[in-house]
Amino acid sequence: MIRFTCQGQAVTLAPGEHFSRPRELGFRDTPATELLELVAELERGTPWRDAVARRFAGAKPWLHAIVASSTRTAFIGPVLPSETTGPVLDIGAGWGQLARPLAATRRVLALEPVAERLAFIRAAARQDGVDGNLSYLEADYFEVEFAPQFAAICAIGVLEWVGAFQAAVDPQARQVDFLRKVRRELAPGGMLVLGIENRLGLKYLLGCPDDHIGVPDIAQLPARLAAMRWQQATQGTLRSFTYSLDELRRLLLQAGFERVEFFAAFPDYKLPRQIISLADGGAALHAWLLAHPIPPEHNGYDGSPLPAAFQQTLAARYHELATQGVARHFAPSFFVRAT
Ligand SMILES: C[S@@+](CC[C@H](N)C(=O)[O-])C[C@H]1O[C@@H](n2cnc3c(N)ncnc32)[C@H](O)[C@@H]1O
Repeated sequence: MIRFTCQGQAVTLAPGEHFSRPRELGFRDTPATELLELVAELERGTPWRDAVARRFAGAKPWLHAIVASSTRTAFIGPVLPSETTGPVLDIGAGWGQLARPLAATRRVLALEPVAERLAFIRAAARQDGVDGNLSYLEADYFEVEFAPQFAAICAIGVLEWVGAFQAAVDPQARQVDFLRKVRRELAPGGMLVLGIENRLGLKYLLGCPDDHIGVPDIAQLPARLAAMRWQQATQGTLRSFTYSLDELRRLLLQAGFERVEFFAAFPDYKLPRQIISLADGGAALHAWLLAHPIPPEHNGYDGSPLPAAFQQTLAARYHELATQGVARHFAPSFFVRAT
């Protein structure tokens, strides 16, 4: 059983059960109506992979890969040990790309504030036969309180968004609160697994648009400067922040984690083709960069390929940074395991 309180109400969720605290605003990569049509197709019996492929493989290939690629779970093993037992909380479960495969062998709570995303997870999980290991919580993570009970909490592509949809909160303070809350809600010995872009990823420093705001040359600046530039450019408030390796390590230690292990993900944490531990000052990464061609990188906002000349520049710069023993600071994305 998964237990939590939501606005003073004590809730217990058995496998297959759902609890809902609906909200309006949220992260959407697909209009709600279209996703609900897709869910209806699944409920009529179309296999979810076929329905997703028919809609997106031709029209939105990157979204198709984000939803359906098997590389989405490549971090299970190198980052989240496969033998981890005990319940897993998947915060910001999205389309269920992680929650469903995790539920094949573990008890999983998929927490996702966007109703139609959670409806998709549930319909696809039933088809995959893993519904008996999954529970579903439609809520913002900050609206629920868990007793410490999770062997692992996954936040893949989530930390950068947690302050994005609530105008009343300071987004960076929200991120710190998020990490502290995760620390409290892990069982003793439990681990947080993060996937996030690197603020100082080489491709961003060389002019590639940021994955969240879609423009270059702002998000990689130190946070206050980035917020100021974004304000000047849009009259709006910057609400999504990523961090460098050292900044993120500091945030996690401040939040109470004692051991923080980084992994570089190429071309990014979303569709990783190479995940390399950054232990020992990044020695394994530096050796790999000096011995292998790097996987092609892409614009992480829309998935479009980067020009060949840009890729060549990236490769040459990675080579120099690896020779100097500092390339770990410039990987495009990180996975992080924190205990
Ligand atoms: C970029 S998507 C990542 C989805 C999925 N984890 C993946 O790797 O594909 C970010 C997800 O975080 C969720 N999210 C954002 N703020 C949240 C919050 N405060 N509590 C829970 N989930 C949140 C969004 O609804 C969205 O599904």
